[in-house]
Amino acid sequence: MEQVSAGVIKHNNDAGISHIHEDHQALFNYIEKLTDIASQPKNHQYAITILENFIAFFLEHIIKEEQILQQYLTAKIVADHASLHTNELIYLDKSLATLKANVSTHIIQTIAAELNQEFKNHIARYDNDILQKLMALKK
Ligand SMILES: [Fe+2]
Ligand SMILES: [Fe+2]
Repeated sequence: MEQVSAGVIKHNNDAGISHIHEDHQALFNYIEKLTDIASQPKNHQYAITILENFIAFFLEHIIKEEQILQQYLTAKIVADHASLHTNELIYLDKSLATLKANVSTHIIQTIAAELNQEFKNHIARYDNDILQKLMALKK
């Protein structure tokens, strides 16, 4: 019985990790949409909705990600990574306010480029590395 429960937990965690990778892809899809809309002045208002959806999705994502990290990593590592997420949320809120104040091609392009750079770094430098360690721990 215990063996079965352990197997189920392991399976769920693997699924959790692959969901995290899917989320990362989805985050880049939002950024791509934002980039595309910059060149469509008629649809500029839609950029606000895309960014709002991005923020809601990112918030759900970091809750899941931090829960997974808490299961395996030290409190210090989790806290450091959580503070990176918090700083990004602050940046996202500021960007949304900027966008709402003035939706223009230049502003949408700038926000999309900054988001792309930030999340490329975040995922390549931290998330992928952390997830690889977790996969190795479970083997
Ligand atoms: Fe992540
Ligand atoms: Fe992260």
